[in-house]
Amino acid sequence: MRLRDRVVVVTGGGGGIGRAIARAFAAEGAGLVLGDLGAAVTTVAANVRRDGGRAVTLEADVTRGADMAALAALADREFGRVDVLVTCAGLGDAGLLTEQDEREWLRVIDVNLNGTYRAIRAVLPQMMAQRSGRIVTIASVMGRIGGFGYVTAYVASKHGVIGLTRALAAELGAQGFTALTINALCPGYVRAGMGVAAQPTKTGPLGGEEIFERYFKRLVPQRRMIEVEEIAGAAVFLALPESAGITGQALNVDGGFVMS
Ligand SMILES: NC(=O)c1ccc[n+]([C@@H]2O[C@H](COP(=O)([O-])OP(=O)(O)OC[C@H]3O[C@@H](n4cnc5c(N)ncnc54)[C@H](O)[C@@H]3O)[C@@H](O)[C@H]2O)c1
Repeated sequence: MRLRDRVVVVTGGGGGIGRAIARAFAAEGAGLVLGDLGAAVTTVAANVRRDGGRAVTLEADVTRGADMAALAALADREFGRVDVLVTCAGLGDAGLLTEQDEREWLRVIDVNLNGTYRAIRAVLPQMMAQRSGRIVTIASVMGRIGGFGYVTAYVASKHGVIGLTRALAAELGAQGFTALTINALCPGYVRAGMGVAAQPTKTGPLGGEEIFERYFKRLVPQRRMIEVEEIAGAAVFLALPESAGITGQALNVDGGFVMS
């Protein structure tokens, strides 16, 4: 219960990783404001409340600035503050750049990169007024390395998320917001959500456990996929007092896949 008086906003809170992040923050006593498309997120919140936690939800699309403003307003109305933002909403693309039309490229960039920006933009004034806060962007190891085809928009968007994270960390520091940190988490191959959902391409499936076993496993020193609880644990760490000196970082949680 290390975050009992804290309020956490999570975008994509109904997804595989988002759900685990919600559960982990609830276990530390934090109040939750969960946004996502569709109804899955209401079940996540209902389970948190059943276990004695505090959670509210909003159907909130990260491609809409008004939805992000409504999510921040809900946090203010329900809890009177925002201490942590975790930007978990995301989607992938699959296929050759030349097979995809411009709409597909724009959609991935709009959700993963612009959506991260919109969520941050919505909660930042409250955090600045409090002169404290923690922002955790969920990027990917695909944002640390290039060299993976068939997911060009995804790779570009996640590089962008890390760039946004670093630049904003510098900007906040320069403005004197020394208790307001922003860091990126870079999951490797996670056993949930996108990590297990194989997507068809002209040359075969992309993603999924079989592809991990066949191609990626030997590149990962720990020879295993990452569990959602490991991503959630890292997100909680980045919200604790012990991590106050960490900002502008991109932390890989990937079994050693990427070592820079
Ligand atoms: N699973 C992995 O292996 C892996 C690896 C690296 C990074 N990630 C990142 O982790 C995050 C969560 O992914 P996941 O694996 O849990 O996948 P997921 O598909 O289970 O979760 C993604 C969530 O984002 C939501 N979402 C999509 N578009 C949205 C929009 N416009 N507005 C609001 N919500 C929207 C979805 O509804 C879903 O609940 C993503 O940013 C993803 O890029 C995942």
